[in-house]
Amino acid sequence: MERFTELTILQPADKEGIDELRTLSDEPVEGKKRLYIESYGCQMNFSDSEIVAAVMRNAGFATTSTAEDADVIFLNTCAIRDNAEQKVRNRLVHLNALKKRKPELIVGMLGCMAERLKTKLLEEEQIVDIVAGPDAYRDIPKLVEEAESGQKAVNVFLSREETYADITPIRLNSNGITAFISIMRGCDNMCSFCVVPFTRGRERSRDPHSIVREAQQLVADGYREVTLLGQNVDSYKWETVHFADLLERVAQVSPDLRVRFSTSHPKDITDDVLHTMAKYDNICNYIHLPAQSGNSRVLKLMNRTYDREWYLGKIDRIRAILGNNCGISHDMISGFCSETEEEHQDSLSLIEYARFDYGYMFAYSERPGTLAAKKYPDDIPEAVKKRRLSEIIALQQRISLERNQRHIGQVQHVLVEGTSKRSDEELFGRNDQNKVVIFPRGNHQKGNYLNVLVTECSSATLKVVVIN
Ligand code: SAH
Ligand code: SF4
Ligand code: F3S
Repeated sequence: MERFTELTILQPADKEGIDELRTLSDEPVEGKKRLYIESYGCQMNFSDSEIVAAVMRNAGFATTSTAEDADVIFLNTCAIRDNAEQKVRNRLVHLNALKKRKPELIVGMLGCMAERLKTKLLEEEQIVDIVAGPDAYRDIPKLVEEAESGQKAVNVFLSREETYADITPIRLNSNGITAFISIMRGCDNMCSFCVVPFTRGRERSRDPHSIVREAQQLVADGYREVTLLGQNVDSYKWETVHFADLLERVAQVSPDLRVRFSTSHPKDITDDVLHTMAKYDNICNYIHLPAQSGNSRVLKLMNRTYDREWYLGKIDRIRAILGNNCGISHDMISGFCSETEEEHQDSLSLIEYARFDYGYMFAYSERPGTLAAKKYPDDIPEAVKKRRLSEIIALQQRISLERNQRHIGQVQHVLVEGTSKRSDEELFGRNDQNKVVIFPRGNHQKGNYLNVLVTECSSATLKVVVIN
């Protein structure tokens, strides 16, 4: 259950195996200094760590998967809820012991919590040498040099242009099959609960040519799936290129390359995008469409700029254009400021109506500096938030199970991603709708596409037999 409340993610990645921390793989050292990096938070942070690794490699660093071996340790942090920050602070306590044994160790805080707290982090956490925000990653080697000379180093400038378009990411902890491509950065929406506009700055889109080139290179390297990432992919815009056009260009890179994307915003997702999805078999039939609440008054307070009817209308459009088989997941927040019991019931009934395949559900956590923190008292008692959250989770689990049960007896197309966490005898992959599928290893290899028959399911996974 914890996973539902703890994991901050833009889209379900591999529900089988996703780790909240991903580390670098080991590289040959040959007298180089070693970097160890941990990522917290959403997929954009994981993707950014791959940029940071590339920048650091150019500066002569090798990567290590063991913190104890490192000369430099980076934590790429998340600020979305209070517990995301607490997790990082707890990690720093552990790193303290390491630094005591190895005083020359350099510890850097990157990402959203670094951006939010800026130099305050240096005051609050003695162990930290470097603070670098999400738009400062080109500057990191210089910050490391400063830290090596005994100074504290900070760069938290946010940029209006930076997209790191020219930096080829180093794929971290990669299965060699699936990869993220960031297509935009920042966010111009001002959802009242959300810290992201403050930690990641203004929205900007990346040159589509560099995106297509990155996808081509991934295919050449044997990858079979890309996920296009942005806080609000539907507002992607580069000159005359809109998100639907970009999606089409990436889908055309190779019919063997699956294309996913995240996150869609209900106010912006267009029929054009849905028609493009319908047109290309290799664009996965899956949409992550955060709702946040099922009640129009609460949605207004949240500044989501759509109401319940608009959201349900989008669900209807998805079903009309892509059919009932399209996978849909959502995000939901329980206990937002002044939410009544009836308004909470509206979130439950929205989940019932939409029949989501999956959900990421959270208790509201007030974030300093946000519109909600300034304007609305955080007045729902913690116990009530938690109880509402558990009702939301229980309902979603029931519906997830029902949605999975309807696949039993269906033949589905699966991309093999690796060995199942539970057993070496089993492999796992995902179907078109992003559901984790488990099957006996046989002679199948990761990267293969298989046709499978679904025989059993839980609320989280499908068990299948391979047809061919
Ligand atoms: N850009 C995405 C969301 C990114 S943050 C979108 O607009 O939907 C991921 C999720 O974290 C959000 O969808 C929201 O459900 C949750 N979240 C964000 N701020 C929160 C807060 N202050 N308290 C609880 N959950 C929050
Ligand atoms: Fe946050 Fe809203 Fe932007 Fe999503 S769209 S990142 S919830 S401000
Ligand atoms: Fe992502 Fe957390 Fe930042 S959700 S954008 S890493 S605040």
